[in-house]
Amino acid sequence: MTTQTATDHRPDYAQISVRPLSGTLGAEITGVDLSQPIDDGVFTEVRAAFHDNLVIVLPGQNIMPENLVTFTEKFGSAEPHPLGSRRGLDDHPHVMVLENQPGKLGPRNDFWHSDISFDEVPPLGSILYAIEVTEGKADTMFCNMYEAYEGLSAGLKATLDGMTAEHSAEKLVQEVPNRLSVDVAPPSVTHPVVRTHPDTSRRALYVNPHYTLNFTGWTPEESQPLLDMLTAQATRPENTFRHHWKVGDVLMWDNRCAMHYAVRDYDDSMPRLLYRTTAAGDRPR
Ligand code: OGA
Ligand code: MN
Repeated sequence: MTTQTATDHRPDYAQISVRPLSGTLGAEITGVDLSQPIDDGVFTEVRAAFHDNLVIVLPGQNIMPENLVTFTEKFGSAEPHPLGSRRGLDDHPHVMVLENQPGKLGPRNDFWHSDISFDEVPPLGSILYAIEVTEGKADTMFCNMYEAYEGLSAGLKATLDGMTAEHSAEKLVQEVPNRLSVDVAPPSVTHPVVRTHPDTSRRALYVNPHYTLNFTGWTPEESQPLLDMLTAQATRPENTFRHHWKVGDVLMWDNRCAMHYAVRDYDDSMPRLLYRTTAAGDRPR
């Protein structure tokens, strides 16, 4: 049983069950079978749960790539990686394969980030479907960027509200040379440091330690201490959720108001196979 307090404004769900998985973000949704068409009423509740919890997990799914694409496209069109960082399925090029197997260590994502924030129009959300896992290994962590912003002083909030920052794929290009469709990172892009979520109208911090290079008009050296402080604020344990993967999990996160981190506690002897899709978003404002 969940305990409700007078300050809870959680939506009521009639057609799905939603169980919070941590104090700050993440919820499990049951009562939805993604191998079947989803009716509008159910989808409205799934989207409400996504907006309310930032990360949703739909366990026990048994689906085909087209089901994953259909679900993704209810949120936004399914996009390929702009720099081709992952192999797509032959017959579903927008379904990317994240694979760890003997002799072929999976891609690193052990840094806090919001996917593809180096794009002018970064994705709304990303979805992973777990086909093979080594239980207890390779968890994925998430943090709540609304709370990160709301927890700052009025003075720092007011300062950040007026600032923008430069985002770039520089580190990605340095780390995975030869795996991308480019040799040099595209020009950096400018995004507001605090963005207003287009669906919830809540304000969230939108910088991350991997792709944000500097605040606009500040040097990287000047920017780094404030970026470090904001990352520390965002990733306090109280502000995180850690997902332990199970086969059949479909998990979706909101790149507009959450960062994530892939725990690198495995080697190539621990199989992991996930399909990943990306739902298109809009320009941060
Ligand atoms: C990603 C990512 C996390 C993971 O696909 O963008 O960060 O745990 N994945 O694989
Ligand atoms: Mn990622």
